[in-house]
Amino acid sequence: MAGDGPIVLLMAMRDEARGIIGRLGLVQVEARPWASWLPMRLYEGVIDGERVALVLLGVDPATGVDCIGPEGATLGARAAVDELGAGLIVNAGAAGGFEARGQAVGDVILSGGPFWYHDRRIPLGDFEAYGRGGYTTADVSRLADHLGLPTGVVSTGASLDAPASDLMEMGRTGAAAKDMEGAAIAWVAKLAGVELVSLKAITDLVDHPAPTGEQFMANLHVAMERLTDELERCVRALVGDRSLVRPPR
Ligand code: ADE
Repeated sequence: MAGDGPIVLLMAMRDEARGIIGRLGLVQVEARPWASWLPMRLYEGVIDGERVALVLLGVDPATGVDCIGPEGATLGARAAVDELGAGLIVNAGAAGGFEARGQAVGDVILSGGPFWYHDRRIPLGDFEAYGRGGYTTADVSRLADHLGLPTGVVSTGASLDAPASDLMEMGRTGAAAKDMEGAAIAWVAKLAGVELVSLKAITDLVDHPAPTGEQFMANLHVAMERLTDELERCVRALVGDRSLVRPPR
């Protein structure tokens, strides 16, 4: 069963988090328990009698955009574990999907791993396996049954597009959701012994000829509505019964 600490939602973009912040009535906490130079923002609320936190990765001061990607995700996960004492992390957001796997925009996928990297190629002995990741962080089968959601493999990289080498790697691991944060958070969760659940809504199809960025912008709103609905169900289910998530098998 997941730990005793609070459920902490970890989300990268303001556009991804806006819906669930409103739906759950989460309120921004100005006095964050981490150093003031760190970009992450904190929201909290009480859901069915239980405190739930949301860490938003925050805004990059140099460019004014959300700190998407593995670096911001690592900082956010570390704060979730050490400063908030997370008993369970839920990483939710947008992801690319795969037409060849029969997926469609708006599909929502649940994952407890394995979380792979598709763009960390280090052909130096054991560094190769280190680069690829492959972290399993929770058994989500009961939660998936409860929510009626499909499970799938998350693959993470630092880019929105997918050159041939990344596509080949995602084919090898059987990826169903391509994101920019999952494996980084999973690495921290694994180190810390905290369970991680990932909930991803498909905004674009990686193997579709239309440019990924155009698909993403066109579909973000509708996919985030689906994400908000499923994330609310997921949080309420976990507040009611944390044992829906178990340690990895
Ligand atoms: N988030 C949404 N779509 C994505 C993609 N194609 N790659 C990485 N992250 C994403």
